[in-house]
Amino acid sequence: MEHPQQTNPSLLSFDRFPRSSTYDPAWIIENAMGPNVLWLTEFLCEAMDLRSGMRVLDLGCGKALSSIFLAREFGLQVWATDLWIPATENARRVREAQLDDCVFPIHADARALPFAEEFFDAIVSIDAFEYFGTDVHFISSLVRLLKPNCQVGVVNAGLKREVERLPDEWPDDFCAFHTVAWWRRHWEITRCVEVELADDLPQGRELWLRWHAAIGVTDDAYLTSPAGENLTFHRIVGRRKR
Ligand SMILES: C[S@@+](CC[C@H](N)C(=O)[O-])C[C@H]1O[C@@H](n2cnc3c(N)ncnc32)[C@H](O)[C@@H]1O
Repeated sequence: MEHPQQTNPSLLSFDRFPRSSTYDPAWIIENAMGPNVLWLTEFLCEAMDLRSGMRVLDLGCGKALSSIFLAREFGLQVWATDLWIPATENARRVREAQLDDCVFPIHADARALPFAEEFFDAIVSIDAFEYFGTDVHFISSLVRLLKPNCQVGVVNAGLKREVERLPDEWPDDFCAFHTVAWWRRHWEITRCVEVELADDLPQGRELWLRWHAAIGVTDDAYLTSPAGENLTFHRIVGRRKR
């Protein structure tokens, strides 16, 4: 990502996200693919049962910052899986973080994952699920990779209220954005998961604006316009049914 405008990296460290605040802001900004992935991962982890040694799938991990965070903060073994970022590139970042004994980069499409059924103790997906998870059949195929009674957790950008058409200021890929109620129903209707929690990140839009101020983004009319007041982040945590 290029950020030619003035940056203010100190905005990345504050009380709301104590774990994320200990990471090097330059590293976070250099490897960013969207809003601060560490904040979003920390928000999700607050709602999941993560214990040292668990096997975790990090689906759509991008540049593996969330995977590094999960391994470092919780002592997890993480399969850092992504489509657009080559595994070799993520392996270099993981090695630099000295976590190559517990973070394993994989290049794969979420729709054709190369893992055994019931291999994982948990699955997470940060700011990626909307690229593949709007197919109602997807969650059933995904949770087969989870041991019974284990958790899947997702954090997405999304809406406070559903829209009939995209506001002019929004990019086309926001067509996959939905409310947290939409996601809850989307998972529950399949009967393969019990949704334990589905909520918005309080002050989600304000945190998104804070991220932009930190990294110097100013061409963000989609967020600053009145239509932007409908944007937020949310998390959905479900447990695979037996
Ligand atoms: C906005 S980026 C977020 C990356 C990372 N989670 C983060 O927050 O920095 C979305 C990610 O979803 C991944 N993705 C999109 N479609 C995918 C698919 N079909 N299978 C696996 N990953 C996919 C992309 O490779 C990309 O890294």
